[in-house]
Amino acid sequence: MRTHAPPRDESLRFERIPTEVFADAETACRALAARIAGEIRHRAAEGRPYVLGLATGSTPLPLYRELIRLHRKEDLSFANVVAFNLDEYYGLSRSHPESYWVFMREQLFAHLDIPEDHIHLPEGTVPRSEVYGHCAGYETAIEAAGGIDLQILGIGRSGHIGFNEPGSRPDSRTRLVTLDPVTRRDAARDFVGEENVPRHALTMGVATILDARQVVLLAWGRAKAEAVARAVEGEESDALPASFLQSHPNAAILLDPAAASELTRVRHPWRVGPVEWTPAMTGKAVAWLSSRVSKPILKLIEDDYRENSISELITERGSAYQLNIEAFNRFQHTITGWPGGKPGAGESHRPERAAPHPKRALALSPEPRDDTIGMGGTLHRLVDQGHEVTLVYLTSGDLAVPDGDALRLSRIFAELDLEQDSAPPNEKLIARVHEELGRKGPFDPDSPELRYLKGLIRREEARAASQQCGVHPSSTVFLDLPFYQKGRYRSFAPGPDDLAKVVRLLRDVRPHQVYATGYLQDPSSVPGICFDLLSQALEACRDEPWFADCRIWLYRGAEAEWEIHDIDMAVPLSPSELQNKVQGIYQHQSQRGQTPFHAESGEEIWQQAAERNKHTAALYDALGLPEYEAIEAFHRYQP
Ligand code: F6R
Repeated sequence: MRTHAPPRDESLRFERIPTEVFADAETACRALAARIAGEIRHRAAEGRPYVLGLATGSTPLPLYRELIRLHRKEDLSFANVVAFNLDEYYGLSRSHPESYWVFMREQLFAHLDIPEDHIHLPEGTVPRSEVYGHCAGYETAIEAAGGIDLQILGIGRSGHIGFNEPGSRPDSRTRLVTLDPVTRRDAARDFVGEENVPRHALTMGVATILDARQVVLLAWGRAKAEAVARAVEGEESDALPASFLQSHPNAAILLDPAAASELTRVRHPWRVGPVEWTPAMTGKAVAWLSSRVSKPILKLIEDDYRENSISELITERGSAYQLNIEAFNRFQHTITGWPGGKPGAGESHRPERAAPHPKRALALSPEPRDDTIGMGGTLHRLVDQGHEVTLVYLTSGDLAVPDGDALRLSRIFAELDLEQDSAPPNEKLIARVHEELGRKGPFDPDSPELRYLKGLIRREEARAASQQCGVHPSSTVFLDLPFYQKGRYRSFAPGPDDLAKVVRLLRDVRPHQVYATGYLQDPSSVPGICFDLLSQALEACRDEPWFADCRIWLYRGAEAEWEIHDIDMAVPLSPSELQNKVQGIYQHQSQRGQTPFHAESGEEIWQQAAERNKHTAALYDALGLPEYEAIEAFHRYQP
């Protein structure tokens, strides 16, 4: 009897690895953890071990939190689990706070009943002469344990899995590798400076990973979207080692919507099946076509639509002429020099309503500087146009202040002390911090007093920057959310105290406009956590009278800008306004010279930010819209 293969899902025809998109990282990790728990219990019932391959980094954290919860609340025992980690920085001892050994202990093992001798990580301090033997021994240990049942992976922006950087061969085994510059740059924040990031690592090889019986790669946030799309839809190639999962018989990829955003089914859905031609989808398709054929919108002709397989749109709208006009108007109506609304003007074509005027605008900055980078020019306009702007720094940002800056400040205080009759009020604190800076290594956690001093440095920088953007220092609020004060990068645990502070802020200000960022970002990053808190806080205020009259505008960071079809408000900046914004960014002195997250090599953040804004202006220009020097872009968020 002939059997029929199930009909192929055409929307997935570009995808070479089974890929599932979840509502968010938590939902994906709950599903995966439940599966892992089932397999662990099944093996335990048979009296056999279950071998897990594990990853570090921020990606698996929601999974680890859920496994810990299952252990605590649902009696899931890890006594029969044997764990092998993918990698370890070479040169870091097991006591180093940034070592993967410490990371795994803090984030997972210390909270489970996994036996100590079931835990395996490569040893970062093994002498060079013994590296080969150590790596071979790691492979043997995996084999002796019966091979890995399930390997968890994250993905680097370089496309690495484990630390198999571009160029890694599919037959590679556990070995010493050199880290890609992109990887070192992405780790710079954890090590407070790229120069402190190790250059080498020990990692399982691609073949070691592919030997696992199941492989699950996880990715969250927009920053991973390109690497994910290339791994899933591109050619299998050592230029992007994650693509080697294509030849694994039992590999899967779990994503949140932001990490899936470059997949063809999301990016160009009309290429994989029927779509609903909403105005937003139409705008997206027309902008795509315009850039594909390098023509401004109003010059697109029917042949362009036909040759690029979207003639369906013309059928819907009647003619290319009609369609072009509609799309052109839509983009044109996003442009406004009046981000708070233009008093007295008709508003049907404007992104913001005219009344009330002035508006109470609340601009939220996860860490100091995000506001200046994302909306420094718009802040200036809001103030100039008479609105009441309150600038709120959600976290102190002290973790990003190099020790050298604190040392300089403490020296100044020490000097003052010598020259003045009366000692400065915090003399003892300064003396203690000074002493701490003299003895601590770059990775020793800062004492609360040192963090306080570093926080003050950032406060002053933030005030100077906001003043440059026209906001009076008295209109700045430092919320110092507790999750940040209690944590460090990659191990923040926001709680009810954080939420309560954000809710109180909204209730105090009752804003007409909220400007925020962090949407689509890695959910464990500071902006990602802050956005999550904001959305929960908005939910809590949903029934309050001010809420119905409040619009939420999202800005993006320097690392990425909104895609043109997602922009609902485009605020043009003149050359001098852009220059002023750059000066604002420059006020964040302690952050100067630090390689920004996700930047091109050698680029400083002010350059990156200015280029983003110029790029957005160039995109508008290419669509046939007015040519501006720079544009700050906002997406309207409707909770
Ligand atoms: C970590 C590892 C790496 C990370 C990747 C993503 O053990 O092997 O491949 O999974 O660099 O890092 P995060 O999750 O921090 O974005």
